[in-house]
Amino acid sequence: MAKSNPILCGSIAGSIGGMGVKMHNAAFRHLNLPYTYVSFEPRSAKGAVDAMRNLGIRGLGVTMPFKEEVIQYLDDIDEMSKDIGAVNTIVNDGERLKGYNTDEYGAITALLEVTSLKNRKIVVIGAGGAAKTVIWGLKRYTDAIAVYNRNQDKGNSVAQRFGVAYMGGLENLNADMDYDILINCTSVGFKSEATILTRDRIKPKSIVMDIVFTPVATTLWKEAQAAGCTAISGTRMIMHQACRQFELYTGLDAPREIYEKVITDILNKT
Ligand code: ATR
Repeated sequence: MAKSNPILCGSIAGSIGGMGVKMHNAAFRHLNLPYTYVSFEPRSAKGAVDAMRNLGIRGLGVTMPFKEEVIQYLDDIDEMSKDIGAVNTIVNDGERLKGYNTDEYGAITALLEVTSLKNRKIVVIGAGGAAKTVIWGLKRYTDAIAVYNRNQDKGNSVAQRFGVAYMGGLENLNADMDYDILINCTSVGFKSEATILTRDRIKPKSIVMDIVFTPVATTLWKEAQAAGCTAISGTRMIMHQACRQFELYTGLDAPREIYEKVITDILNKT
């Protein structure tokens, strides 16, 4: 008997590709689902979306630099993605392509694993797409959000848009500031040993999350641990957002223990 084609999902661009391939395929195998997940490197966002329609690709994970650009080529996006202005997941129901944002869920769930967020004082470093996504999610829990960003115009614009405080550049941020949680939403540390803050400038015993996940053990993550903080690796956010993607692609509950195992194995190898 002829074997039917697998249901194809994949990711377009960026370094999350490898991690997504490992996590999603392990989950598909675990549940014996006829899905497969591959990493694509499309020439353009439009080309990727056209291919999705023409080839009947069920789902695509979207990473930088396509998260904003793809929106114009989709038939629909959910309310959260509209508000945030970025999509990281596209689902093809056979007729229409709809965009979603699972990054917000990933970031907030990674924080909620270790702390409550209600009325917490939070420092967000950065004012790009990642910062907007995180701030959007945090606003459901607290208004005490202070944004630090190198570029003043971008810092002010994010602060105005979300009704939070812009505190200026990183030079204004010190270890004796009054905050509970600090989140790095800049790209500093991505594929490098750079860090946005060293241990002497991090508030001891606070909670520090890095959204950078390549390398999996970023310098900021290590510096935060050295400062006696609860440090949350960017891989936690990646794992949770991937579970939500699985649910959108398959309509089933994600086997979280499988995603957890893949991420833990990756972390243990570093
Ligand atoms: P993303 O969508 O991933 O957030 P982005 O929109 O390019 O990417 O935003 C990158 C963020 O990292 C910005 O806040 C940027 O600061 P500026 O607005 O000042 O450019 C921040 N960033 C990148 N490199 C930086 C560096 N070396 N020092 C401080 N901030 C940096």
